[in-house]
Amino acid sequence: MAIRIGVVGGGIFGEMHLQTFSQCQRGGRCELVSLADLNENLLAKRREQYGVKTYRDYREMFAREHLDGVSVVTPDPTHLPIVLAALEAGCHVLVEKPMDVTVEGCREMIAAARKAERLLEVDFHKRYDPYHMALRESIETGKLGKPLYGYAWMEDRVEVPRDWWPNWACKSSPAWFLGAHFVDLFRWLIGRKKGRRVYATGVKNKLKSLGVDTFDCVQAKIDFEDDVSFALDTSWVLPSGFEAIVNQGIRVIGTEGILEVDSQDRGAEGCFKDRTHETLNLGFKLYSRDKLGNPRYSGYGFESIADLVENIAFLKCGGRLTDLQGKYPDGQDGLETTRILCGIHQSIATGKLVELGTD
Ligand SMILES: NC(=O)c1ccc[n+]([C@@H]2O[C@H](COP(=O)([O-])OP(=O)(O)OC[C@H]3O[C@@H](n4cnc5c(N)ncnc54)[C@H](O)[C@@H]3O)[C@@H](O)[C@H]2O)c1
Repeated sequence: MAIRIGVVGGGIFGEMHLQTFSQCQRGGRCELVSLADLNENLLAKRREQYGVKTYRDYREMFAREHLDGVSVVTPDPTHLPIVLAALEAGCHVLVEKPMDVTVEGCREMIAAARKAERLLEVDFHKRYDPYHMALRESIETGKLGKPLYGYAWMEDRVEVPRDWWPNWACKSSPAWFLGAHFVDLFRWLIGRKKGRRVYATGVKNKLKSLGVDTFDCVQAKIDFEDDVSFALDTSWVLPSGFEAIVNQGIRVIGTEGILEVDSQDRGAEGCFKDRTHETLNLGFKLYSRDKLGNPRYSGYGFESIADLVENIAFLKCGGRLTDLQGKYPDGQDGLETTRILCGIHQSIATGKLVELGTD
């Protein structure tokens, strides 16, 4: 019962998907078949590294390879046509966050997945972090009481928008790139409630002066159903000397308790040649080697991608899509996060509080 997997987009984060599926392949869980990317040089490199078949055209890959599952790891504004084509080809899909940059695009994906009767999963990996799972447990079991409000922060070092992909950072923002994670996490913690209204501000200064026309920071206040409120700070201008590529955390306060998680500092730190002293988030991706010397990855960044394979295995063994409902970040979760993120950007543009619609 080989589960045939293809990846579209083999760039910086696409490599994490390739590493994950390679590891699943070594464990006999799937076959990492192919990669599609527009960049010929990158394809040659990934072919060498991962032994995958490569394609410049993802449509050709879908037509030839009879894939069970596809993960889409291309820049945010390009997800939609690729996801639709993958679903039309009969593949289950894992798409990187944000699922799409428009609510209409998310709706199209959901309708296509429904029609094709296929999985549509979004890579919201914060849900797979055991610390966050413990936080959810304390809410679900009532230990925290009724959630009243929460606060999260996620901040990247400046090299992310400046050096990693200056060409498409201007089509994104710290809210799209980083905020998507914590908006989904908070929604999930409080029982997948809908956002009702949002007010946000954003500042363009440093990155614009470096030639990347995007916000340095975005601050948002989101009101959810049932009087739960959430404040979110995002930015991607931390100096290169900061102790980690990302700084992040969350706190939730309920009628009966408080829980705070430092989602970045997990107690591991180090200093390596020509680098500053670093705090290492080994909870996200922990690299080691197995007995045979093969790479071994663990951590929530890996788990959330490998979940595509686990879900497909479940379906192939006779499980139904409805049995999985609520057990993975699905299209509706992707849509709700995009709705909130669109509201955030609308609020910044208008300077006004934005009422969020519902479907
Ligand atoms: N979950 C996370 O923590 C996380 C982290 C980083 C990035 N991401 C998301 O992953 C996605 C990719 O980010 P990245 O940093 O890898 O970007 P990247 O620019 O490094 O890589 C994107 C790749 O997609 C390829 N591509 C673009 N259009 C294509 C098309 N039509 N067909 C085939 N290939 C195409 C590009 O050639 C490039 O190699 C984005 O949606 C980003 O937001 C998620």
